[in-house]
Amino acid sequence: MSPIHPMLAPLAQAARHMPYADCAAALRAALKAPGWLRPEHRVGDPTGYMRHLLYVDPQNHFVITAITWLPGQASPVHGHQVWCAYGVAEGELTEERFRESYGRLTPVRTSVYQAGEVAEHDLEGKSIHRVSNRTPGTIVSLHLYGVSAERLTTGINRIFTA
Ligand SMILES: [Fe+2]
Repeated sequence: MSPIHPMLAPLAQAARHMPYADCAAALRAALKAPGWLRPEHRVGDPTGYMRHLLYVDPQNHFVITAITWLPGQASPVHGHQVWCAYGVAEGELTEERFRESYGRLTPVRTSVYQAGEVAEHDLEGKSIHRVSNRTPGTIVSLHLYGVSAERLTTGINRIFTA
């Protein structure tokens, strides 16, 4: 993996201690000064939200990714198999939270996060949510996942089909 962007180095340092120490301050700092964000991170995939891998922990403890959301794009409703934390670098992201009870999902709340804001963490893999772009512009979010790079596409989400 390529060397880390210097502006993400403090975040990677903090993420090494996740999920036992919070990385919110380092995440917020990276979101408020997104010098790491390159033009290609604003180029989305019309078929669905697009992950850009920014950094892989050499010990395979976590990855840092940017996700690009074109207008109208949304994740499925999903939980997580690993810890995760994220925030918004550009744009305005909507997150719906759900609760699962006896196999049924109930909406809990909807939050809107602006550029520079850190979303609620899911350190124990218990949250169920759907993230979406309800704006006419492109959104770039910054995510940390406690997963190895090899498992990036299959090891993060638990998808709810109901
Ligand atoms: Fe998620």
